Amino acid sequence: MVVARTPLIAGNWKMNLDHLQAIAFVQKLDWALKDAKHDFASVEVAVFPPFTDLRSVQTIVNGDKIEFAYGAQDVSAHDSGAYTGEVSGAFLSALGCGYVLIGHSERRQYHGETDEIVAAKVKAAVKHGLVPVICVGETAEDLEAHGASAVPVAQLEVALAGLPKKADIVVAYEPVWAIGSGQAATPEQAEQVAAPLRAVIARMMGEAAAAKTRILYGGSVGASNIAGFMREPNVDGALVGGASLKINDFSAIIRYQKHVGV
Ligand code: PGA
Repeated sequence: MVVARTPLIAGNWKMNLDHLQAIAFVQKLDWALKDAKHDFASVEVAVFPPFTDLRSVQTIVNGDKIEFAYGAQDVSAHDSGAYTGEVSGAFLSALGCGYVLIGHSERRQYHGETDEIVAAKVKAAVKHGLVPVICVGETAEDLEAHGASAVPVAQLEVALAGLPKKADIVVAYEPVWAIGSGQAATPEQAEQVAAPLRAVIARMMGEAAAAKTRILYGGSVGASNIAGFMREPNVDGALVGGASLKINDFSAIIRYQKHVGV
């Protein structure tokens, strides 16, 4: 089944930019892309600011008719109630978020997020009308012990268990050793994991879901290596950390089709 998947370039700001900086950044990025006549229908753009920026991003996106999608970097597994410090998917939906990152390796590593917690958050996101960007990836030790795909495949299997087959999802393959290290995977390495991840989606959610789901690569993506990833048949975009905070770099990544002749 051949389904055209619109590439998605997503910027994970992590804990950077306060709400005032967020407004200025979104505006400048929009100007840069509009100046370059970027076609948002051919490459979708999404930003993932800190929670405290989301209301400001919503306001500037709506007010200036900016074609970016946006989302949060985490969501609670619960709907509401006595969960101090948590943020409900219902609140994110009310702020116009289309997406939410779930299970980023920094959440797994520093906040004890297990595969089961990730699965519960994925269900909560879908319940509240958000598209979860489900992050999976192996550490350097996992890579040595089990090869590249075993851990990401196992993580995705748990994350998708019990999910309605028609749920819209995005999967981000981010080898932990490649994140923030300047040492990206090769396009071939990314494809060697993206293909089995798509097979997991096919097995658990059906062929139609597998054909339409975007699988992103993340980990030290920059303007100079994006094109290689985008040439791989199972890589449909990128989750970009450090380079997403620089207007020139991020807009060049988004415009990969123009400057490298993919
Ligand atoms: P990086 O981060 O692009 O800075 O490696 C990617 C991520 O953590 O999503």
